[in-house]
Amino acid sequence: MASWYDRAIIYQIYPKSFQDSNGDGIGDLNGIRQRIPYLKDLGINAVWLNPVFVSPQVDNGYDVANYYAIDERMGTMADMEALIADMHAAGIHVIMDFVLNHTSDQHPWFQDAVKSKNSIYRDYYIFAGKNGRKPNNWGSFFGGSVWAPDPSGSGQSYFHLFDKRMPDLNWANPEVRLAMGDVAEFWLGKGIDGLRLDAFIHIAKGDLYQNYPTAGDDNEPIVAEPFFANLPKVQEWLRPFAERIKADYPQAFLLGEAASASVNLAVDYTSAYAHLMDSVITFRYFTTDEEALDDTLPHQYQPTSIDWHQFRETQVVWQQTLASLPTLYWSNHDMARLATRVAHSETEARSLAILMYLQRGIPIIYYGEELGMQNLQFNSSSQFADPSVDAFVKKAITQGKAKADALKMVSATHKLPARGPMSWDDSAHGGFTTGTPWLNGAASKTAPVSAQKQDKNSMLNFYKQLLAIKAEPVLQEGKFRLLDFGDSTYVYTRQTALETVLVAVNLTARDAVFTLPAGEYTALLSAGAYGQTGNELTLGAHASVVFQRY
Ligand code: NOJ
Ligand code: CA
Repeated sequence: MASWYDRAIIYQIYPKSFQDSNGDGIGDLNGIRQRIPYLKDLGINAVWLNPVFVSPQVDNGYDVANYYAIDERMGTMADMEALIADMHAAGIHVIMDFVLNHTSDQHPWFQDAVKSKNSIYRDYYIFAGKNGRKPNNWGSFFGGSVWAPDPSGSGQSYFHLFDKRMPDLNWANPEVRLAMGDVAEFWLGKGIDGLRLDAFIHIAKGDLYQNYPTAGDDNEPIVAEPFFANLPKVQEWLRPFAERIKADYPQAFLLGEAASASVNLAVDYTSAYAHLMDSVITFRYFTTDEEALDDTLPHQYQPTSIDWHQFRETQVVWQQTLASLPTLYWSNHDMARLATRVAHSETEARSLAILMYLQRGIPIIYYGEELGMQNLQFNSSSQFADPSVDAFVKKAITQGKAKADALKMVSATHKLPARGPMSWDDSAHGGFTTGTPWLNGAASKTAPVSAQKQDKNSMLNFYKQLLAIKAEPVLQEGKFRLLDFGDSTYVYTRQTALETVLVAVNLTARDAVFTLPAGEYTALLSAGAYGQTGNELTLGAHASVVFQRY
């Protein structure tokens, strides 16, 4: 059965940073509602909202204290219902983030679970160890151990893969599985069209008393992914969850965040017979060029460049291997923005957008990318609210870096400065708020929406043209094939029985010259300078062109 999401073009909204409607400096649901005409005009047909549930905001909403209510900073349930209705009236589907691996420590389940070992919610979470001893040496994604002491004083510890205020749910408990299914059904019942399943690959954990092997000379916790990522029980537990949803809401789109999953696991998660996800988001697209790193400085927040050979290989494998549609993206709220991290000129940003989004799959455009927005620049470590930044800056200084330069590096690589306020117009704070933005930092001089709308050559108008092309049948259904002209280019065709489109991108700053396969070529869209003499194509620095072939 054809599904709406076979043709999805998704726009990712970080609700806190999109549009504030009441001057408190925090973006909200009514703000998003005001901007629906903008979204419609852009040419997207679905939005993914990062979490908007009641949350202490330790991790900007990924720490949920009540799944059944909207955080008051974002609005009310009535606002959410109105947002869904308005989006639908504009032909835009709504995908909500769904945080199923953990809750906030303020969630009533956890509050009860830590009252005593006999709490009826005790088994909703993962408690282990005794006499204050941690069961294993596993490390959390957010630093330190995955274990924190049980506040009830039992001597046990509870498990948290992320912040210690985000305890992991115990999916081994069937009650938890049912309870999370109920939450999903509640929101689908409100009319939303899909769920982005946060960190779903982590819901199953291995033997909690198995240490990760070390050289034996240090006691630092180790991020022991093999013991808490992609274990077989993930599939066993999520299958009934997904089947229940599909039985009740056959058109619900299940988009899983499968950060570390290999392509083969992604195949398992998304194959129709598996009854799990409709598509996944992988973090494996962007291999960095390790050789380009400066070994005299700590690596963690060093700006990196992409290893383009690896990139071509990864892309073609994901394109060719998945039976379902891959997701296509350059950035999201967990990484630096495209225009900061990868593209060093507007031409390059445009070419990379052409490269990525015209492939087979579902584009996910991170808000502001269509304007060329960059990461904010922070001028003190404390703005990052992340202890690893302090440690990096201190180390960089001892190795001879100026503090300001170290902070520049972190601003260009850290996820938080990628979550800056959307730039709407020339007024104070870019029209995002009349108050003080919740996240304040120096913004780059990207032209706001109001100016870009007027300029037919703007990035915004380029994205509109690109998305209009993406909506054409050949770019929705066409077969993908990479043509091999070496690592300095990325050239592919999309082909149906009726039409062929050829996309050619120069990945380097040097001219790229090559001969196109026989045919007549007419350009549909381009970025940068190119020349065409017969079938010989010359692409200038980072230039690209999209051809219709006859
Ligand atoms: C993945 C989300 O994208 C990230 O922002 C969050 O911190 C973790 N999951 C934990 O929910
Ligand atoms: Ca607000």
